[in-house]
Amino acid sequence: MDKKLEKIAEVLKKEGSTVTFFVGAGISTNCGIPDFRSPKTGLYANLQRLNLPYPEAVFDIEYFKKSPKAFYTLADELFPGKFLPSIFHYFIKLCQDKGKLRRCYSQNIDTLERIAGVEDDKIVEAHGSFANSHCITCKAEMETKVLRKLMKTGIPKCPVCKGYVKPDIVFFGEGLPSKFFDLWDEDCDTEKNLAIVAGTSLAVFPFANLPHEINKNCKRVLINREKCGTFLDSPRKTDIILLEDCDKIAEKLVDLLGWKTELDALIAKGKKKMETEKKLVEESESESESEEEEADKHKGVEKAEKLSKEVAAKVAKAEEGSKEGSTRGKEDKDVVDLASDLEKTKI
Ligand code: OAD
Ligand code: ZN
Repeated sequence: MDKKLEKIAEVLKKEGSTVTFFVGAGISTNCGIPDFRSPKTGLYANLQRLNLPYPEAVFDIEYFKKSPKAFYTLADELFPGKFLPSIFHYFIKLCQDKGKLRRCYSQNIDTLERIAGVEDDKIVEAHGSFANSHCITCKAEMETKVLRKLMKTGIPKCPVCKGYVKPDIVFFGEGLPSKFFDLWDEDCDTEKNLAIVAGTSLAVFPFANLPHEINKNCKRVLINREKCGTFLDSPRKTDIILLEDCDKIAEKLVDLLGWKTELDALIAKGKKKMETEKKLVEESESESESEEEEADKHKGVEKAEKLSKEVAAKVAKAEEGSKEGSTRGKEDKDVVDLASDLEKTKI
């Protein structure tokens, strides 16, 4: 194991080398967010209470159109803002700080890469995120903070047409963001590159194909609790496989690279920032609640929007220029359809 880690550190230290990450839910399990397919702890093994026809229906657009309640029950639990980044997220951020990060392709919707400080142009949220929301009928856009507010009163409906409002998470049956395809065209042939695949079962396509498609001269690394995908089906002689907790590996790599002080500083800063934000949101929410009581009940939705914008402004002010928050790539409706790959997923 130590030899393997030294090899990774050696490549990372090389002049001009870069790293591309391909990550999934496993890099956020240490933050308290369950992954999808781990046998006992994964989300899909724990959805009986939602009475779904099959577990992945919770992220299926056709099912959502008929029964959005299941998704919203889950969304309430998974909503960003409650979780801090893991050591692995900060490892990605440190690679960026050292000028080593080519790109981070993530399947996660928790925005923790951004919260850790990874820049927008370095992140591809292949399956979207909670950062923004749209009405699925008239496509009206809505800030997710407004959606959060609406969720407190039941299933969120569009103030314009009363259609269901959904965060811009890519559901099975929807196209991936065009940013995914555009940047992959640029990134797949990168030479002098390290490809680190971490915390994913590589079960959902087209994402699962990326580490398979990457340039043959690129050294591939898998950091995961299980061997999976292309590392099983089409292994390369030069692959490095580390079947371990991804935070443990990240911590060891950080040590080998001499980045420990910076890691500790990032962790401390992250904690402090979250405490400040929580306090501000709580204050704003209690202010809005007392104001709401006096407000005209029929204007509930408009009121919620206004107050949520105020919360957003306060949080933004507190962040002072932090680049946290996200802008999602436009969805391209003609691109690969996740639904066609649903069969390939192993539940
Ligand atoms: P999965 O739940 O399929 O896979 C997570 C992987 O991470 C598993 O192989 C775990 O063994 C591993 N793992 C968990 N915790 C770990 C840790 N601390 N250290 C190392 N490995 C760990 O999650 P994804 O591959 O991300 O799609 O799932 C892909 C997509 O399927 C998701 O984006 C989601 C889902 O349906 C949509 O929402 C569209
Ligand atoms: Zn609408």
